[in-house]
Amino acid sequence: MCGIVGYVGKDNAKDVIVDGLKRLEYRGYDSAGIALIVDGELFTYKRQGKIRELEIELRRKPVYSNIGIGHTRWATHGKPDDINAHPHVDCSGKIALVHNGIIENYAELRRELLQKGHRFTSQTDTEVIVHLIEEELKNSSIFFKAFLRAVKKLHGSYALAVITLYQPDTIFVARKDSPLVIGLGDGENFVASDVPAFLSYTNRVIFLDDFELATVKSSGIFVFNFDGEEVEKKVVTIPWSLSQAEKAGYKHFMLKEINEQPRAVADTISGNLSWFREETELEGIDPFGFNRIQIVACGTSYHAGLIAKFYLENFVRIPVEVDYASEYRYRDPIVDEKTLVISITQSGETADTLAAMRLAKSKGARLLTVCNVIGSTATREADTVIYTYAGPEISVASTKAFTTQLTALFLFSLWIARERGTMKNEKIEGYLKHLLEVPSRIEAFLSLEREKGAVKQIALEFYRAKDALYLGRNVNYPIALEGALKLKEISYIHAEGYPAGEMKHGPIALIDEKVPVVFVATKGKVLDKVVSNIEEVKARKGRVIAVTNPGIKKVKELAEFIIEVPEVDEYLSPIVNVVPLQLFAYYIADFLGYDVDQPRNLAKSVTVE
Ligand code: M6R
Repeated sequence: MCGIVGYVGKDNAKDVIVDGLKRLEYRGYDSAGIALIVDGELFTYKRQGKIRELEIELRRKPVYSNIGIGHTRWATHGKPDDINAHPHVDCSGKIALVHNGIIENYAELRRELLQKGHRFTSQTDTEVIVHLIEEELKNSSIFFKAFLRAVKKLHGSYALAVITLYQPDTIFVARKDSPLVIGLGDGENFVASDVPAFLSYTNRVIFLDDFELATVKSSGIFVFNFDGEEVEKKVVTIPWSLSQAEKAGYKHFMLKEINEQPRAVADTISGNLSWFREETELEGIDPFGFNRIQIVACGTSYHAGLIAKFYLENFVRIPVEVDYASEYRYRDPIVDEKTLVISITQSGETADTLAAMRLAKSKGARLLTVCNVIGSTATREADTVIYTYAGPEISVASTKAFTTQLTALFLFSLWIARERGTMKNEKIEGYLKHLLEVPSRIEAFLSLEREKGAVKQIALEFYRAKDALYLGRNVNYPIALEGALKLKEISYIHAEGYPAGEMKHGPIALIDEKVPVVFVATKGKVLDKVVSNIEEVKARKGRVIAVTNPGIKKVKELAEFIIEVPEVDEYLSPIVNVVPLQLFAYYIADFLGYDVDQPRNLAKSVTVE
């Protein structure tokens, strides 16, 4: 999705902004631009393609400025080209604006503005905003007032940053349904759509809420509501370091993040132990206050939800429904004040997930969110927050967010089971012990992989495949879905995940001597059933890759390729079993020469519905 960066302070704004835009590249974009104010003049530079194209342009016409805004655009309205790239400028050339989101009433606004004589240069919905501000300036010479009046006329979602020659020391920002964060420096301040943009300068931030605006100067920040009243905001310190948001010698963020999982899972356990042990409270949640659970999430987080259903239904014996957040709203779900809705979201900014949460809240449900980003919208709107401690996840393909979500959801399920007395204490302690062993089990697999490269070898064998099938059962069926999602999103190979027992009802027709069939066949109550499914594939000359544990002879005899992972408790096995599938997808995409961290058409946080 689009990225915003703004800077006002003592340094060269161009450098700070370009650096920030690069740190937001992971969000996905197809053009980039920047606007700067220099000695009473407004300069804009815009380029289709990567930020390096913009840098070439900036080198050609160098300027020094202490204030500016920048943007990476992920096209929605109008093709990705230089003209549609942001910033957009008004007719007078005195106002420049960048925008994330979608303006739903842009067509009417554009018609009205055209009638009033405004000239448009782009096909974007965004350009109407800058002309609207210009128009509102006819009613008020105070720029902030004109900005506020213009913003109030917009329908849809927006994070906006504006600079103007009318007030050249200030960045004006506003937000509704699209994230915007202000970074607090010393004699300098920052605005961005995401914290990593300015993490090398500051980790003290203010999150803007919906229907808020702010004026950002080097000397200070003021936040207002849409009635123009000043609002007091909390300053949040983000416990992420810059090194966490850098590649640290790895070829890609995805590979780094896969390798960080032992640490991330361990941190997620220790970060949540205090409420689990009841040294502190898990605020906002009454363990007896609900008789049904609904889980809403998207993509990889949805797969974590499918596994959490096993945890909650088995440990707590409570009915759990799992919905794609984008579908939830449209199926008229049965929700009331006895419903606990759990949203799972790495970013905390996924528009579909936020919309599902809001619908559930409007019907009286309690909201729990499992989230990785401190201060994100989901964490501010939920009644209860359980954080994952994955650290910043930069690669578009989610890896460590997933395993830490499973960790947090496992802990939560055990906690509820204890509170409601559905599981004996010794059993809970036993599970906790097993959970504490998971980080070292993942590490054991990863270090063997670094040494021997078994997954890499198998990827080399299959990277030219056109299709792949992923099969698993029970608690590992969602791992088959996740393995398939990983492969398709970064290698563009068609892949399907299925419950292995369902194969004979259709997908078995796909099997031939070319299609890799990845089985998750680790120890557990369905292992024998999975083995029968492997037989069925073998009988049709399918090429079987099996993720299995040491010592499972029958799988070894059948599969053409074996990936061994250490044995853990069956409920925890998804956290370990997914790791080789992440690596398999990674190596295939890398062998194919694709941009692993920024796959085509995808964005890290999907902030439009
Ligand atoms: O930030 P969220 O967890 O809400 O994001 C949900 C999905 O957009 C995300 O998991 C997506 O499917 C990833 N690209 C998967 O790797």
